[in-house]
Amino acid sequence: MIKIKVPATSANVSVGFDTLGLAVAIYSTFIFSESSSKLEITGTDSKFQNANNLVYKAFVRGCEYLEQPVPNVKIEIDSDVPVSRGLGSSAVCIVAGLKAASEWFGGKLSDDELVVLATKMEGHPDNVVPAILGGLQLSFLDDNNHPQLVSYQVSDNLNFVTLIPDYQVSTDEAREALPTSLSYQDTVHQVSHFGMLIHGIENGNLNELRMGMDDRMHEPYRAKLIPDYSTVQELVKNFNGALYISGSGSTMMAVLSNSEDSNQLIGAAKRKFPNWRVESVMIDNAG
Ligand code: HSE
Repeated sequence: MIKIKVPATSANVSVGFDTLGLAVAIYSTFIFSESSSKLEITGTDSKFQNANNLVYKAFVRGCEYLEQPVPNVKIEIDSDVPVSRGLGSSAVCIVAGLKAASEWFGGKLSDDELVVLATKMEGHPDNVVPAILGGLQLSFLDDNNHPQLVSYQVSDNLNFVTLIPDYQVSTDEAREALPTSLSYQDTVHQVSHFGMLIHGIENGNLNELRMGMDDRMHEPYRAKLIPDYSTVQELVKNFNGALYISGSGSTMMAVLSNSEDSNQLIGAAKRKFPNWRVESVMIDNAG
């Protein structure tokens, strides 16, 4: 029996579109064991209990890469990561399946191999990389299509609050909402603000974070897909927080400088949006 636990991830950390992702302590757990039938899946909707299940597809991919026969397997899923909310639920499935294949055959896949395989399956690295390694990770594909990674520290002085709406945003729709080019002026804006954002995150400087989190690549276009974005923006401003859209939404991530402000924001957001999942969230540093 193999147990795999994978964290949710918050990609597109503001001006870090498609490159900067953060692992957070919301987890899905998967138990893989031998089965008498080819495939059994429990703990998910019946429409996902078949060979098209992404966890199983990744497990098969891992076996193929290791040049091993795909065993008969039972996969028990216990997921706390919400689907289509910008918290990396598909990355969770991919990483779980690949890690399970690795463990099944004696832990043969290195982190680098996991990153390459998972990035190829997902199409972008900014969810799978923090899901594998934990923490705050910058990742991109180089000219040879190999993922390149840089880890950053997240200051303990920062408090993160996830605001998860009771509605989904499709990643495909969110990608279609983006323009096809960026002006020189906006590119300079992104580069300068990225530097400030990273400095603010590493040093726990909320002023820098608030200033750095001023994205011009995706948030102005994707905010329109989240009907409550401006209401949330105002709420977070009341507690001096910084805000970004997690992944392609609908989740929004607030960053505050102390737990009192976080608790007050959580209370106010819960009153405003009683059906949302609003909670303080720790950073996962282990993957
Ligand atoms: N960087 C990806 C995107 C994340 O914005 O499309 C999707 O979760």
